[in-house]
Amino acid sequence: NYVLDNMKIVPENTAVIQPNDRSYHFGDGVYEVVRVYNQKPFQLEAHWERLFQSSKKLDINLTVSANELTNATNELLEKNQVTDGAIYIQVSRGATPRNHLYSREETPIITGFTMNAPKSKQEEGISAWVTDDMRWLRCDIKTVNLLGNIMAKREAADADCFEAIMHRDGTVTEGSSSNLFLVNDGTLYTHPATNLILNGITRQVVIDLANKAGIQVVEEAFPKDVLDHADEAFITSTTSEVTPIVEFKGQVTATMPIGPVTKKLQALFKDLI
Ligand code: PDD
Repeated sequence: NYVLDNMKIVPENTAVIQPNDRSYHFGDGVYEVVRVYNQKPFQLEAHWERLFQSSKKLDINLTVSANELTNATNELLEKNQVTDGAIYIQVSRGATPRNHLYSREETPIITGFTMNAPKSKQEEGISAWVTDDMRWLRCDIKTVNLLGNIMAKREAADADCFEAIMHRDGTVTEGSSSNLFLVNDGTLYTHPATNLILNGITRQVVIDLANKAGIQVVEEAFPKDVLDHADEAFITSTTSEVTPIVEFKGQVTATMPIGPVTKKLQALFKDLI
């Protein structure tokens, strides 16, 4: 198995990550996860665009081009013979003796690896754990600093839930590693793409599919009380695609069927990939 180590493809056991890497010290790095269908990375340009945006927002001087990233990605997929799976790409600000104050002269370090396709829960749906969003105020940046997310995910798993749905002071934001959509009277509801959520690539694809299919989409924040009377609910992400929620647990208790709008969007998404 091969990995990407500082933009070079090397055997996994020869890759060297430095103890001085700032993504270890401070979580000072950004990343992307891209799905691969039939040997082809899905929505690759959009992922690179977000990687550049995340870097820019953190003042990380990423000078590599989208083309170079694409070439490295394709080479790695080829080497590891990935047909259906995913690729992870991380940009660390750099490796220098530990210092909170970063320098703008740092040379970013790009690493990556391939992953197997995740097990789908799209047929049966998932239980979702409703809990507090304790993250920072720049959730729009796809940073490797994911403590609030992983704590929520563990809490959810301990309650036999696949995902945590988080709310900030009663306003629902998103999942620990996904975006949330509700369906009421045939209309889709999801949090707007502000600093409080990550604007998922899958989220954007689903909104686009819904618009084209004549399904109304409302990008507005909603309170957690509405979760218990949603007609349908689902999460979206690179790894879960369109996965229905059939139960809310924790601070909200409710069950819901996998409804027609969710099924329609699942089908439209499948057609796209
Ligand atoms: N997570 N919100 C959060 C907090 C996420 O971590 C993710 C993705 C999403 C969905 O984004 P996208 O549709 O672009 O995958 C929303 C990835 C898959 C991960 O960390 O593994």
